[in-house]
Amino acid sequence: MSQDAPPPAARPAEATPALEVKNLTVSFERDGRRAEVVSDVSYTIARGRTLGVVGESGCGKTITSLAVMGLAPPGLRVQGAIRLAGQDLAGASEKAWQDARGDRVAMVFQEPMSALNPVMKIGRQIAEVLVRHRGARWREANEEAVELLASVGIPSPRLRAQDYPHRLSGGMRQRAMIAIALACKPAVLVADEPTTALDVTIQAQILDLMIELQERTGTAIQFISHNLAVVSQVAHDIIVMYAGRVVEQADAQQLFAQPLHPYTRGLIATLPDPQRPVKRLPVIPGRVAAVSAGHTGCRFAARCALADERCHAQEPQLEQRGERHWVACHKVENA
Ligand SMILES: Nc1ncnc2c1ncn2[C@@H]1O[C@H](COP(=O)(O)OP(=O)(O)O)[C@@H](O)[C@H]1O
Ligand code: SF4
Ligand SMILES: [Mg+2]
Repeated sequence: MSQDAPPPAARPAEATPALEVKNLTVSFERDGRRAEVVSDVSYTIARGRTLGVVGESGCGKTITSLAVMGLAPPGLRVQGAIRLAGQDLAGASEKAWQDARGDRVAMVFQEPMSALNPVMKIGRQIAEVLVRHRGARWREANEEAVELLASVGIPSPRLRAQDYPHRLSGGMRQRAMIAIALACKPAVLVADEPTTALDVTIQAQILDLMIELQERTGTAIQFISHNLAVVSQVAHDIIVMYAGRVVEQADAQQLFAQPLHPYTRGLIATLPDPQRPVKRLPVIPGRVAAVSAGHTGCRFAARCALADERCHAQEPQLEQRGERHWVACHKVENA
């Protein structure tokens, strides 16, 4: 983990980030009013770095990553800037997005079966990406598909290339999905809960694979999980989301050493302590509030032990509190 890299907001202009997201807001209309599911989210990911995005279910992690892929569900309005390897894609045509997907940005999902074609052999699915995006010939593409399967640790890759997805185990399917995602050497890999459906041993293997592939290829990774323990194993930087907003953003070590937001502190308190095994982990009482139109105040106020009148009246903005540390809370000093 690099300690001397400048914070995301202060990276020099010449080092074009692999991904730059600025003031991303995703909203929809309900009863004639706008409701936001993602509000004013900004971050950058440099080449070779992993940004962890963490927060409970319903915080807007998936919608954020879909927006970054140009895949936000219909009916949702996406505003803000999205720059992929320097190319501005906000408001770009579907054709421009299609060119970008699989070429400059690729995605790995929680459930690989939903992304894999069940009636196409694994090797063919990888080869197809190479033919479509790189203009490779089928013969070369098929060979490269076998190499890619080997590079993600799939044994007997030449045989597995001839298998249909249902013949592979969950872990092997996720490896195949990663091979497809990496086929065109994308600048950015978006991984949304890629290990959540896997058991703990396989989960650890997939995380190791992602770290190893990043070291080899330099791909920037946006790694999304509701599980802070998982995020902490791969992320250089972390953003904590709550009800569609970034509430804290920091270098991973800094976030664990000195969490400032009450929600982040709550998340860390729910992590298992290897020194002190407990049967049941504490949970943060309450649940993520629905984001309603015309909402005022801190979105975490209903669950925050420190909430006062100001918290209910005024939404805190993200402010810099350390060299690589931003937090949105009115009461950071005494948090
Ligand atoms: N198509 C949609 N229209 C309106 N709201 C949506 C849509 N899809 C998701 N949402 C809402 O957006 C919020 C964030 O969802 P999501 O990004 O899936 O959360 P996470 O991935 O953090 O669990 C949720 O409150 C969800 O109900
Ligand atoms: S602004 Fe207030 S309610 Fe929100 S997290 Fe900080 S102390 Fe809690
Ligand atoms: Mg999700």
